[in-house]
Order: sequence, then C-alpha cells, then structure tokens
Amino acid sequence: MPMLLSPAMISLSTVFPYLFPTTIIMIVGILSWRYWAKRKRYQSLKALPSPLGHWLLGNIPQVLAAVKKKQFFQLLFDWSKQYGSIYVYWAGAPIVILSKPSVIEGTVINGMRDGSLIRSQNATRAWNDISGAILLGQSGAEWQWRRKAWNPEFSPVGISAYIGVVEQACSQITNKIKADVSSDAIPVDRLFVELTMRVIASLLLGIPVDSKVVSPEGSPLDVPKVYEAMSVLGYRFLRVATSENPWMKYLPTQSSRDYWAARRYIEQFLTPRVDLALQLRDQQVKDSSSISTLFQESMLVKIASKEPRYTRETLIAEVIELMIAGTDTTAHTLSFAVGELAAHPEVFQKAQAIADQVWQKHGEISIESLKELNYLRAIVKETLRLYSVASGSTSLQAVKPTTIEGIPIPIGTKIFWSMLAAGRDAETYAQPDKFLPERWLEEGHGSLSLPMIDFGSGSHRCLGEHLAMLEATIMLAQLLRNFDWELVNGRESLENLQQNLLIYPADGMPLRFRLRETISI
Ligand code: HEM
Repeated sequence: MPMLLSPAMISLSTVFPYLFPTTIIMIVGILSWRYWAKRKRYQSLKALPSPLGHWLLGNIPQVLAAVKKKQFFQLLFDWSKQYGSIYVYWAGAPIVILSKPSVIEGTVINGMRDGSLIRSQNATRAWNDISGAILLGQSGAEWQWRRKAWNPEFSPVGISAYIGVVEQACSQITNKIKADVSSDAIPVDRLFVELTMRVIASLLLGIPVDSKVVSPEGSPLDVPKVYEAMSVLGYRFLRVATSENPWMKYLPTQSSRDYWAARRYIEQFLTPRVDLALQLRDQQVKDSSSISTLFQESMLVKIASKEPRYTRETLIAEVIELMIAGTDTTAHTLSFAVGELAAHPEVFQKAQAIADQVWQKHGEISIESLKELNYLRAIVKETLRLYSVASGSTSLQAVKPTTIEGIPIPIGTKIFWSMLAAGRDAETYAQPDKFLPERWLEEGHGSLSLPMIDFGSGSHRCLGEHLAMLEATIMLAQLLRNFDWELVNGRESLENLQQNLLIYPADGMPLRFRLRETISI
C-alpha cells in the first residue's frame, strides 16, 4: 500500500536535517546552563565535606543501593562517621545531613519559625497520598485544627485514663509468653506489634483488647491482616517520598494492585465505625443501647463530635495515620529495649529489682506506681537514643536563604539528619556507646537537660509520645516481674538493623524466656 504523506509531514521531513542538530545544540545549551546555574547557586555548600559521587548522578547510585538493601539510615550513619556532624550529599538537589542533636533541634524549630525552612514537599505529598490529608502532611491552619482536636486525648492526663486498657493488653502478651515459655526462641517483635495495635485500636475505635470479646460496631481486629495492609501503605509512602509520582498508583502494576487492595481492606474495616461516630455526632442514632460503652467513649467518637470539620474521608485517613504511627514505633522500641536489657545484666537486675519493689508495694500499675518506674522510663529513652526508630518521617527544604552552623544554606537545599549518629554524639552523650539509662535520671549524671529528639522537634513533635512511654514502661515492668530472658542470636539481633519506614531488628528479636521461680503460671 502506498504511503500517504500529509503536507505537514512533508515539510517536517524537509526541515528535519536542519532541525535535528539545532535541537541537540539547544538541549546541550540548556543542560549546561542549568548545570552552571546550579553550581553557582549551591557554591556555599562546596565548603562542606561530601562523599565522592558519580560525575553526573552525584550520590544517587549509593543512596538507591542502600534503600534497596533497607540500609539507608546505615549509609547516613557511616557517612556521618566519615564526614562529621554536618556534610552534604548530592541527589539532584544538595541534601545537608546533620547529626548533632542540638543543631537538629535548633534547625527544625528556628527554621520553621522564621519561615526559611518548610517540611519537604515530597514527604508531605507522600503522607497525604496514603489515604488522604493527615496531620503529618498538613501545615498552617489545616494542621492546627486537627492537632488541637487530638492534643487533649494524647496529653499525659488524657492518656492516664487508659492505663487499665494498656495494662490489660500487656497482660495478654505476658500470658502468651507464659504459655510458650518452654520454646527455644520467641520472636518478640511481632508480639509487641500485637500489643501496640490492640492498644491503639482500643483507644481509637473502642475495640476490646481481648480478642474473644465481640466488638458490635464492626469486624474484629485481625492483627496480621491489618498489619500487612499497613506495611503496604507504609512502603508506598517511602516510594512516593523518594521518587515515585502519586499517579503511578493508577498504573496496572502489581504494586498498585497491592496498594489498592491494602487501602480497600483498611477502609472497609474502618468505615462502619467512622460512619457510626458521625451518626452519633449528627444525632441520627435513635437507640444507642446496642452500642458498646467502649465505642461511645472512644477517641473516634469524641473527636468526631468535637470537630465538625471532620468528614468520613478525613477521619478515615486520620485513623489510618494513627494506627500506623501508633503500632511499629513503640513495638520496635520495645524489641530493642528487651534486647539491650538481655545484653546488660547489671541494668537488667536493677530494673527487675525496681519492678519487684513496685509490685510488692502497690500490687498493680497505677498512676502512683508509675512514678516509681522512672528507671524503666529511662531505659526506654536510652533505647530510643541508640535506636531512633522513627527517624525518617520527614525532612526539610530551604525556601529562603538561611544559615546552619554559620554555613549559608541556599534556597532549594534539603536538610535531613542521621539520628543514629545524633544518638551517639560523644559531645552530647558521655560514653555514647554504653547503654546507660542513668544518664536520663537526675541522680545519674545530673543530665536531665539532655536533648531527647527521638519523638521529633517543633510543632509536629510526636502526638503519641506519652502513650508510647506508658505502653513501653508497663510492658517492661510486667516482663521483668515475670521472666528472665536472653538473646537467642546474641548481639546480632541488636546490630543487624533494617529499615522500611522505621528501623527494626532484622531477625524479629528472638528471646529465650525463663519464668521466674517466684512466679507461678
Ligand atoms: C516510641 C514510639 C514513637 C516514636 C519514636 C515516635 C516518633 C515520632 C516522630 C519523630 C514524629 C515527628 C515526625 C515529623 O516531625 O515529621 C512523630 C509524629 C507523630 N506521631 Fe509518633 N512516635 C512514637 C509513637 C507514637 C504513637 C504511640 C502514636 C499514637 C498514635 C504516634 C502518633 C504520631 C502522630 C499522629 C504524629 C504526627 C504529629 C503531627 O504531625 O503533628 N506516635 N512521632
């Protein structure tokens, strides 16, 4: 069949030989101009040490390889050891890495206050893409009304109302370990995931922590399934935060299918409860006698009735955020804490003696007894110093010229931190490689003013800090009261770390427990 050429194609083909070299020259010209403009703009950062990179791609290949191995945090830590407490790596834009706790804290607080730094748009976009607008992805007035609604619930007073729930959930885990105590290895990380998810689901959604008790407002909490769905959503956050475009979730790929399946599963689980909370707010429920007291007193019902701006979509997104933020964070922290206790018999014995004393005196965990468990709280803080599980939730970017440690930071620079290096900064924490909970106590090294930035800095500082501390302290007290334990894999469990959204022990922290002689099953 003869080829038909339109007049436009004919004229293109005649000018093509001239167009082609001109286009190439233009592209090369634009690229070179951009390259020189960038060099000029970021000139001041050349004063900072920087890891060697590819001539064109900068440090992108090293970063991508580390992300693939789930070792990105380790790469930043290694670079911090080599290049010091402030260095820059290049991945398109320059990324300045900080690792002095006071500098990280000061940069976040002052930079956000004077408007020179904002939360990274990539991370913000990725947070809001999980299932809708959430606290972590908002700023200004939109963030303020949301945070104001939740703050009282998560304040020390608000959280103290849930001691009973937390204690019950911890007892369930203790009993599970007792039932399996003769086992050679109990991987505790997944038990702590169960603990934290049951607690947050109970507080938020009024689902009884005892899985045998029916929750009339919706389907029961299936911990492994919800956890799997949450992991898929968390992984998606990482992909969008690092490179992927949000619209790629509409492509017919396996990862998009997994994302939609996970999102559908969680939304279906939450929707009946969210709808009921909204109906209660709008007084559309004629007979509330079939609704459990636990649900009526849940945070979901309180927040829905307090804040009319919450709709079905925004509440679902927020609950997903809180379920994700409230589960792995505290669970992995607990895993590292019990691991460090096993590796430090002197700390273990001291902590166990305190747990015993408190039990003998009070016979239960109450607000009073909690005050006497300060040493256990210090163990949690010391664990977070060494394993800052949630160190990668956001980064900053300069929108106005500013300085950090006297170094001019141009617009467009990204700022991030190595929390592993910050926690081990010898100028801030004496004997940084030692597990010394005493450093967090007045009677220890008089260092109560030590920076504690593992829950974040500035306005977005962790909403769930008090809940996390409560859960971790009570769980440790119960474990110490009931068991002795040792690491099955030795220090390997504490040294082989990986990172998805959070840092976690790669082997799931297997422990060998022994029921203490004074305790009967
Ligand atoms: C050991 C446990 C925990 C650690 C280390 C931790 C760490 C953090 C960090 C570093 C941030 C700041 C993120 C940023 O600036 O972008 C944060 C924010 C947040 N955390 Fe936690 N967290 C923990 C437990 C919890 C718990 C139990 C909850 C409760 C549900 C929770 C809910 C949140 C929320 C909602 C935010 C966002 C606050 C905002 O944007 O205003 N976290 N957390």
